[in-house]
Amino acid sequence: MAQQPRSDRTIPLEPTTLRVALLGCGVVGTEVVRLLTTQAADLAARVGARLELVGIAVRDVEAERDPVVDRSLLTSDAEGLVEKADVVVEVVGGIEPARSLLLRAIEHGAAVVTANKALLAQDGPTLYAAADAAGVDLYFEAAVAGAIPIVRPVRESLVGDRVQRVLGIVNGTTNYVLDRMATEGLDLDAAVAEAQALGYAEADPTADVEGFDAAAKAAILASLAFHTRVSIDDVDRQGISSVTADDVAWAARTGHTIKLLAIAERSDEGVQVRVHPALVPLTHPLAGVRGAFNAVFVEAEAAGELMFYGRGAGGAPTASAVLGDVVSVARHRVLGGRGPVESAYAALPVLPASAARTRYQVRLEVTDQPGVLAQVAAVLAEHGVSIEAVRQPPGRALEPGVDDVAQLVISTHTATEAALRATVAAIEGLDVVRRVLSVLRVEGA
Ligand code: NDP
Ligand code: HSE
Repeated sequence: MAQQPRSDRTIPLEPTTLRVALLGCGVVGTEVVRLLTTQAADLAARVGARLELVGIAVRDVEAERDPVVDRSLLTSDAEGLVEKADVVVEVVGGIEPARSLLLRAIEHGAAVVTANKALLAQDGPTLYAAADAAGVDLYFEAAVAGAIPIVRPVRESLVGDRVQRVLGIVNGTTNYVLDRMATEGLDLDAAVAEAQALGYAEADPTADVEGFDAAAKAAILASLAFHTRVSIDDVDRQGISSVTADDVAWAARTGHTIKLLAIAERSDEGVQVRVHPALVPLTHPLAGVRGAFNAVFVEAEAAGELMFYGRGAGGAPTASAVLGDVVSVARHRVLGGRGPVESAYAALPVLPASAARTRYQVRLEVTDQPGVLAQVAAVLAEHGVSIEAVRQPPGRALEPGVDDVAQLVISTHTATEAALRATVAAIEGLDVVRRVLSVLRVEGA
């Protein structure tokens, strides 16, 4: 027998109207209001009940708002608002008060829709457990890759298959920054400043640039794909702050482009989830993902390779995903039934970064003299790291007045992260190596 919601106070028996409470009216919230307002008749037809926006909780009720926002709905009493809604949409962001408000909404029998990747990646199981106990829906399509339907495909469409790997560009800001570095030769700071001016990056771009945003999304996708709890703390994270214009130029010279990738993969030993900049061959579809767009590759045993592409950020695209969830949970209110609950039965071991196996490209600045390459190659061999190719670009002087140095660009075959780290440390210790210019993984080859 279907589990009934714990509270029947907010559940109309034959609903002709469902009360929707909106928490947050910023970039995304404003566009949620616009869709709820302008598409009201269509939404009612699709749901089978009218969706009535009963309140909008914000921090500052006096602040200027888009004219689409009915100011009489604004309130600073978010706690009171969630108690009188059938559906609560949270687009506030951050951990608190978002978590407490969602838990309160669930406790009062409301279905909840959130775009909050940070909260889900840190404390998703608490929300799932509360929603399960109350018998209500918890939906979060907008939390990963904005408008792109990727949560539902992984959570529902592929649930009969065995997902092996998820590989994607899930942060629009960093993709824009790397794209501008590659196409315009900008340095990182200039490209980030451009992204801020265009509204892609936050005033404090740390969450994007340092990979926290992508890591949260990777954790959510990995949890769904592998039926295993993965939190943001399990994700090996490296942002793009160390990527230089020189790295980007070098990538192009070797037939690659640099992308910030989120990777979640299953092996016989468990699952490994990581976010880092990587060299992607120019022939790979992810290399063609330009500007602030996102794209996610999913590899499943029976389905094979699937690719999802679109706008991963921005008010209207994200609101589209939010409204899709609102319609789904509202339909359940009208017709009965519930969406999926947490699926963490597999409980696979979450492996450390050192277990990851990839190919690498290592760029070194070395003394230009006979025998240097042999010394470097010997270190790689000692650590069991196989060389795929070595390039020594022509033109020796890297700095004015320095003419006895050369660059070596070493591409490896697949090696573990642990072996590569030990190799690089040993290479750094060689007298003939002036500095390690960069170590980048190669993905998608
Ligand atoms: P904004 O900062 O633009 O908006 C946040 C809103 O929350 C504001 O309206 C703010 O009120 C309100 N708020 C903040 N604190 C409180 C509080 N204590 N009580 C009530 N309201 C509060 O954020 P975004 O719209 O950009 O993001 C919202 C969520 O959507 C986040 O979880 C984000 O990660 C996610 N998301 C965002 C995307 C994007 O492109 N922006 C894409 C995908 C997901 P006030 O207006 O008064 O300041
Ligand atoms: N800041 C994110 C991005 C959007 O640049 O992709 C919200 O997920």
